[in-house]
Amino acid sequence: MIQKKMAHIITYGCQMNKYDSDVISRILEENGYDLTDDEGCASLVLINTCSIRKHAEDKVLSKLGALSIRKKDTPELRIIVSGCMAQRLGAKLVHRFPEIDFVVGTGMIAELPNILKGNGNNPLTPFVKGEDNPLNPPLLRGTNPLSLFDNGEKVYTGESSCLYPETHINKKGLKSYVAIILGCDNYCSYCIVPYVRGKPRSRKPVEIIKEIELLVKTGCKEITLLGQNILAYGRDINESFVRLLRDIHAIDGLLRIRFLTSHPRDITKDLIAVFPELPKVCEHFHLPVQSGSDHVLRLMGRGYTVEHYKRMVEEIRQVYPCPSITTDLIVGFPGETADDFENTMNLVKEIGFDTAFCFKYSPREGTPACKFQDQLPEEEKARRLKELLDVQKAISLQTNQKLVGTVQEVLFDEKNPKEGAPLAEVAPLAKVALLAEIALLAEEAPPADECSLLGRTRGDKVVVVPTKTHKIGDIGMVRIAKANNWSLKGVFVDK
Ligand code: SAH
Ligand code: SF4
Ligand code: F3S
Repeated sequence: MIQKKMAHIITYGCQMNKYDSDVISRILEENGYDLTDDEGCASLVLINTCSIRKHAEDKVLSKLGALSIRKKDTPELRIIVSGCMAQRLGAKLVHRFPEIDFVVGTGMIAELPNILKGNGNNPLTPFVKGEDNPLNPPLLRGTNPLSLFDNGEKVYTGESSCLYPETHINKKGLKSYVAIILGCDNYCSYCIVPYVRGKPRSRKPVEIIKEIELLVKTGCKEITLLGQNILAYGRDINESFVRLLRDIHAIDGLLRIRFLTSHPRDITKDLIAVFPELPKVCEHFHLPVQSGSDHVLRLMGRGYTVEHYKRMVEEIRQVYPCPSITTDLIVGFPGETADDFENTMNLVKEIGFDTAFCFKYSPREGTPACKFQDQLPEEEKARRLKELLDVQKAISLQTNQKLVGTVQEVLFDEKNPKEGAPLAEVAPLAKVALLAEIALLAEEAPPADECSLLGRTRGDKVVVVPTKTHKIGDIGMVRIAKANNWSLKGVFVDK
């Protein structure tokens, strides 16, 4: 049964969206909502959406279809759509699903409190039309050119000057995301992100530090800094990424720092040389290469060559003995020849990525590549994807096998999911396989008084360790005893 002021959030897409959902949770709670995992009893369902590939949007559309049907029986249900699809489609979403109550674009999260308060005294009622109506939230009133009333009162898209409301994190957990720069202006020819997330806007260092200090006070030990191109941090506000890293590194109680995503064009030898000076920075580098062919990289507008990429990986391997290098790859880009694809396969084998997130090219309306000649047939894209995934799977196993016998620092953040805890983030295609591996590893666990803990190495690999004494939140040294495709098994070593 629907319960008043219970809200359920559904999040699609990348880590940035997950972070935004954390912010949204806080706003909902501050406005009197209790969050629930049970969609069926929520009076408000908020869908935080992704536009990166057609498949991501299809999932949202089918969810909206189901919710719209439900709303016919339960008209008191409120549906809010936020995120990249909300920004991209705006009023079109409301035309297709009139059951939607509000569409809130990526730049308008800070307006959510006003939207929740609604028009006058009625929560979640649309605002009265008319730019100067005093009931409209300030950002949506008067002269702000970005305040678009696309569809009367329900659609809030545009780019606000305020990125997030002031105090917005109340998440408790060992690990947290912290967005430090929003947006991207690289305009890679296939990518929708610059159109839906706007130009790069860095958050102020003081704001970021304050947020991380708060997180650490509530038990956070590892943070992952987020940005579509994190190495662009500070350019717009005369700050620097390295300076920020140093300040974050100085926060007492914080043990690990990760960051995503580094654009290979912006990674330099000098930058790489700084990381080992900051031991809390984990030796895990997510460097999306996209293709192993200079011809395709040019068409994509990536701004680097395969040679540059290889050199940077080499630099990283010079400064760290055993770093994790992970990547994103797109197959079947328009104009990708059999030779281009072969070059990608060769690069994957040569570098030996720890993990690769591999995607079939998905045309996005409004991006240049969508209109390129020589679009590849779906079957060919699927064939190339399968070939690539098979090779990468074997390479992931090899990179894991190299760790057998080594001692790794592991931060334990979960119990064996068989015992009921959710599994932290892994490559989506690997998730099912990883769960199966963990189940097998855990079954091998000896006596009943031992449980299996799951943790991550500094290189972000999942490790299962049987223990009687350790608990979630501990950090320990573990000798790796066994390697699978997506996970490791180990035993604690005495200090
Ligand atoms: N900012 C990051 C990527 C963000 S999107 C970067 O520059 O690397 C995450 C990944 O989705 C991309 O790295 C790319 O591999 C993939 N991707 C983006 N647009 C895509 C499209 N139209 N079709 C298929 N994959 C896409
Ligand atoms: Fe998209 Fe390129 Fe920006 Fe990454 S760098 S978000 S792939 S435009
Ligand atoms: Fe998707 Fe938007 Fe992230 S398009 S990948 S949710 S920035």
